[in-house]
Amino acid sequence: AATTSNGVQSAYSAYPAIPGVEPQICALDAFRLAVASKLAAPLGIPIEKAYEGIDIGKKEADFTVAIPRFRLSGKPDEWAKKVVDAFQPDDMVESAVQDKAFVSFMMRTPTLVRKVLDQINDLTYHTPSKKAEYGCNHSGKGKKVIIEYSSPNIAKEFHAGHLRSTIIGAFLSNVHRATGWDVTTINYLGDWGKQFGMVAVGFDRYGSEEALKTDAIHHLYDVYVKINRDGEKEGEEGKAVHDAAREFFKRMEDGDEAAVKQWKRFRDFSLERYKQSYERLNIEFDVYGGESTVSQKAMQDAVEKMQTMGLVETGEDGAKLVKLDKWKLGSTILQKKDGTSLYITRDIAGAIERYDKYHFDKMIYVVASQQDLHLAQFFKVLDLMGLPWAKTLEHVNFGMVAGMSSRKGTAVSLDHILNEAGEVMHEQMRKNEAKYANVENPEKTADEIGMSAVKIQDMAAKRINNYTFNWSRMLSFEGDTGPYLQYAHARLCSVQRRAADAGLTIPTDVSTVKTELLVEAGARAIVALLAAYPDVVRTALKTYEPSGVVTYLFKLSHAISGAWETLVVLGQEKELALARLWLFVCARDVLGTGLRLLSLRPLEKM
Ligand code: ARG
Repeated sequence: AATTSNGVQSAYSAYPAIPGVEPQICALDAFRLAVASKLAAPLGIPIEKAYEGIDIGKKEADFTVAIPRFRLSGKPDEWAKKVVDAFQPDDMVESAVQDKAFVSFMMRTPTLVRKVLDQINDLTYHTPSKKAEYGCNHSGKGKKVIIEYSSPNIAKEFHAGHLRSTIIGAFLSNVHRATGWDVTTINYLGDWGKQFGMVAVGFDRYGSEEALKTDAIHHLYDVYVKINRDGEKEGEEGKAVHDAAREFFKRMEDGDEAAVKQWKRFRDFSLERYKQSYERLNIEFDVYGGESTVSQKAMQDAVEKMQTMGLVETGEDGAKLVKLDKWKLGSTILQKKDGTSLYITRDIAGAIERYDKYHFDKMIYVVASQQDLHLAQFFKVLDLMGLPWAKTLEHVNFGMVAGMSSRKGTAVSLDHILNEAGEVMHEQMRKNEAKYANVENPEKTADEIGMSAVKIQDMAAKRINNYTFNWSRMLSFEGDTGPYLQYAHARLCSVQRRAADAGLTIPTDVSTVKTELLVEAGARAIVALLAAYPDVVRTALKTYEPSGVVTYLFKLSHAISGAWETLVVLGQEKELALARLWLFVCARDVLGTGLRLLSLRPLEKM
């Protein structure tokens, strides 16, 4: 599949195979190999070792090598000089320049352009399964990861923390899939616990069958708020509410048919609504699990095992607890005195059940940093239980969002936020009548741009940072926003459409496209960015930071918009027009791939 149209890949057989180095699908790897071969001989080191020392160049250079890191005896500056003296330019590497103990290399532009555009074209249009895309790699081949994310609580608010978990979790799932991992995604719903007792009691008092069916999430939340207000009342009245709720939950735990049936209705109707929102957000789950799906037996077994291992103590009030002070993790209750389980009990047993089922190589929990302690506690408990896979559990955390309320200032649900973002975008689009008339489904498009705005705002900075929800900044078409990225993509699509109207299309045999005509600095800058995309994906897998991808896409979009005037397509001589068009088509493909990695749906018109 990796045969490029000009057959360049045959050259790679001259190099040793280095794990994780994939020149057929990553042009930069091919150039790094070429640079490594120019280091290995004069330095007298294996090519693998030379390869590790090659960094992306700072300032103008393509690659920079810091000679001291090879720890050779003698002066690094002299070794650097040896490298430069021995250097012979060729098809791949055009120059080597010494700066003290550093050597910088430049890739030969025509080779770079050809290789990168060929690879993008091959991987976008000629891979048998649409699963592979440019930038994907095989580093996770044969490995299984479970990614748990979103995990809202039924009958409680879907808050910003859940939104962030959803957005970041979808991104991580995409990154793992793009790097060859076998991914299973789980939505671990908060669908168990005393609050369902509260909801059941509340539903008897304030519920409406009608409202449950049409809008379960808002209705149950409403009921939950009202009954909690009753529960806060002084004296007997408040106490009675809580007693009834506890009693109802106890019945659920004991498997009482009527109680379970009522609870299940609440869950089913809520889930149906959630699924609509996820679909709108372009988010999917392989498994809708939840706290309710953790079996009583698994919890009993886990508690018993901990007891036999001497990990459990009984508190004064009869509750069973684990002390984790030694690890500065306090202590945590596993079981209340009436035998009912807690949030952490379910997480402990749930993880064990998942391992037994999936035998994962790692499992990721995408949960707000407010729960750092909880996650650390149950990871530690699993570790103390002697489960070797406990070490493969990872908590991907993130900071808080301030001010996620509607523009009018009222607290709102996810749906409200998305609706409002869509409506504002729709108003904006209407302002340009001519364009508006051209968009096939303006409402849907506006909705999509609105969601892009919400998502990009969320992923633009490091996960752990807190941020403030900012309507006007995030919905702007200027600056680093979701609408800007969508616009950049749509504009590239429009270039292709207008070229087609003028009779210009990319031939199936791209080897006939004269890429050597792409000589402008602006063209090289775009190609160099396109070449960097596979590295961006690799970094994302290491850091779990969507912001790296977002930053990259902004850079790419800026480079493209900076080139409109120098790389004009229409009205040029045909060969030149075609070469430029191909560059823009490839740029469009990579921008689109990057947007999809971030769970956005790239727009063709807007
Ligand atoms: N439902 C929880 C909440 O909203 C989040 C679940 C996080 N995942 C977990 N395995 N504990 O707070």
